[in-house]
Amino acid sequence: MNEMTPPNTERAAALKGLGSSRKRVEDARFTQGKGNYVDDIKMPGMLFGDFVRSPYAHARITSINADKAKALPGVIAVLTAADLAPLNLHWMPTLAGDVQMVLADGKVLFQGQEVAFVVAENRYIAADAVELVEVDYEELPVVVDPFAAEAPDAPVLREDLAGKTEGAHGPRRHHNHIFTWEQGDRDATEKVLGSADVVAEEMVYYHRTHPCPLETCGCVASMDKVNGKLTVWGTFQAPHAVRTVASLISGIAEHNIRIVSPDIGGGFGNKVGVYPGYICAIVASIVTGVPVKWVEDRMENLMATAFARDYWMKGRISATRDGKITGLSCHVTADHGAFDACADPTKFPAGFFNICTGSYDIPVAHLAVDGVYTNKAPGGVAYRCSFRVTEAAYFIERMIEVLAIKLGMDAAELRRKNFIRKDQFPYHSALGWEYDSGDYHTAWDKALKAVDYDGLRREQVQRIENFKAGKTRKLLGIGLTHFTEIVGAGPVKNCDILGLGMFDSCEIRIHPTGSAIARLGTISQGQGHATTFAQILASEIGIPADDITVEEGDTDTAPYGLGTYGSRSTPVAGAATAMAGRKIRAKAQMIAAYLLEVHDDDVEWDVDRFAVKGAPERFKTMKEIAFAAYNQAIPGLEPGLEAVSYYDPPNMTYPFGAYICVMEIDVDTGEHEIRQFYALDDCGTRINPMIIEGQIHGGATEGYAIAMGQEIAYDDMGNVKTGTLMDFFLPTAWETPHYTTDFTVTPSPHHPIGAKGVGESPNVGSVPAFSNAVHDAFRAFGLTQTHMPHDHWRIWKTAYELGLHG
Ligand code: CDP
Repeated sequence: MNEMTPPNTERAAALKGLGSSRKRVEDARFTQGKGNYVDDIKMPGMLFGDFVRSPYAHARITSINADKAKALPGVIAVLTAADLAPLNLHWMPTLAGDVQMVLADGKVLFQGQEVAFVVAENRYIAADAVELVEVDYEELPVVVDPFAAEAPDAPVLREDLAGKTEGAHGPRRHHNHIFTWEQGDRDATEKVLGSADVVAEEMVYYHRTHPCPLETCGCVASMDKVNGKLTVWGTFQAPHAVRTVASLISGIAEHNIRIVSPDIGGGFGNKVGVYPGYICAIVASIVTGVPVKWVEDRMENLMATAFARDYWMKGRISATRDGKITGLSCHVTADHGAFDACADPTKFPAGFFNICTGSYDIPVAHLAVDGVYTNKAPGGVAYRCSFRVTEAAYFIERMIEVLAIKLGMDAAELRRKNFIRKDQFPYHSALGWEYDSGDYHTAWDKALKAVDYDGLRREQVQRIENFKAGKTRKLLGIGLTHFTEIVGAGPVKNCDILGLGMFDSCEIRIHPTGSAIARLGTISQGQGHATTFAQILASEIGIPADDITVEEGDTDTAPYGLGTYGSRSTPVAGAATAMAGRKIRAKAQMIAAYLLEVHDDDVEWDVDRFAVKGAPERFKTMKEIAFAAYNQAIPGLEPGLEAVSYYDPPNMTYPFGAYICVMEIDVDTGEHEIRQFYALDDCGTRINPMIIEGQIHGGATEGYAIAMGQEIAYDDMGNVKTGTLMDFFLPTAWETPHYTTDFTVTPSPHHPIGAKGVGESPNVGSVPAFSNAVHDAFRAFGLTQTHMPHDHWRIWKTAYELGLHG
């Protein structure tokens, strides 16, 4: 080897590729106020839109009078459904195969529903004009309880569906029923449950909550009437899908639409769907010929834009007397609100809820999900989870605890006894998935050891004795969870959104001087894609990550992709990136061989170069190869060094984790203290350990919020009780617990670099860990099940109902 050449370990480290805790390249601009968010976009002559929203949850609209609003100086227009109807834009399709009013068409179905769109010279005038629009409502009976919605005499909510007995997902059996989705073997499951030694039964409710990203939803629509081109900058988690939908709805040819997602201040599923604000801003820009901005405020975001969860999950789980699980049945009543606007792949009306057998080898199972309409905001988005996986994980992790109580068994031991074994992978679950890989026992044992589980249980026994003896008023809860995620939607054969197959893409251009630009079909909302995707490429093509620009979010330049949500970026676009990198390397090999005057097969890859086999001192670096690609005429090869890959994954990836929460609970005040939170994650090959840790901290904090206080609550009249950040719990640094992170590595066998997603895991895993800790604290006093969120009041009430207040 040439003496001047550093060893390949040093060269590999200099690339900052896979496994490097490379600092986030995005942060320089974010920490210096140089981010470019939708509301930063200011254009000459730009107008502002604002909504008149319904104060009622269910009412008929008898009249709308916008005369006073229109007379206000600075008001340009007031749009109502009557204005949109001639364009056939007063209703729009939802991602779930339903339709949704863009502006109230004759009636309103939830509080905060969009009734009219005021366009004015600035935001303040628009807000004043909203107050001047006079709407007459005739109140109708309100339904907020999904079980009451299915009563025979329940009010008809969706009059537009009158007489429709077929929905997008099969037969509708009632006027407020949306679909029934069944998976698994009902008869076989009933047979097992009917003859089992032990059956535990429970209703597990995962309450309605909201992703509540720091930045609310918004857009700027700009119709260039001269060139016929519509540009929309927006908070879009799936910009290409938005372009296609916008083209189908508006009739504008797709090449004449440019969708740009600039910097996005958190998405968490909230920014996947299409909202009335986008349509109204586009229509207003087309009508006025100038750009129109719409940015919702916090209350609008919480009250009207895409909620999450609201699943009532009735479970039955059976086992032998010594704790071997034999069967599982689950029936879900899913409250979808006024329109079915769930963001799920077309064939999965309850998302991937059928991962609800969790990490356990359950021989037979049956799942039925009934979707129903109520007078609540539409949505049902995947709030930092892969399409209802967090509901599934919460369900099974609660059912395991309930079964442990019924069996009188330690819940950690019950889990260990029923885990899918390492040698069973690839594992076919009773509800239809093929788990690609896993090693649950190793992870579990590592986690239990790390927290000294046996010691904690001994401490808990002592604490209970002390409590009973009146020496303490604090209980100790140990919350266990072992979750299995399913991320990376998805194989095109299984997964599409509105008919668009869920592949993803990466296009790479190597510049003559050896730096590069990679463009992807995904869009980061804080996950650090510009940092980590460059790392994948650095390892694949031997160019330092610092010399690779990653660009996403502009449909005029990025290759078509289905966007970022459900931790699909790494499993799908990350794979596309590796595959495109390999195409670059294959061409680079031919160029290197030509330059070294040897046969293609006589050179081999060495970190950042191709060297002649057996003569490592004869090599060409990627930098030299890149230059040659642009300045040498190489026989049989086109000039340039570019590649594109559209990747259709053969399967999802199945990350997993073992989370343990140790919680102190004060029975007199209902207050809690998180003493310890241990999170072990296995996301296969780790691209950037520092970013992974950040993902875990963020997701676990969201999980903490959900489990311990965050909810979208309604009163009986359909009023949102938690529509501001005074009532909706968003943890600050003060409340956020300390986390200890850990990992095991079980690479995905089908992903080109073995990586699985990770962004959703901490939300999925932490919610049951926090909730199980609350339940576990009260287990010795007879508690089997209570509902989240476990705020101080509810914990206090639980203690009271168990007679612990003396
Ligand atoms: O789709 P989304 O970006 O939300 O989720 P993800 O694919 O789980 O990735 C979240 C962040 O973690 C990205 O920056 C990934 O590159 C990074 N990651 C990683 O470093 N190693 C993994 N095995 C998985 C994700």
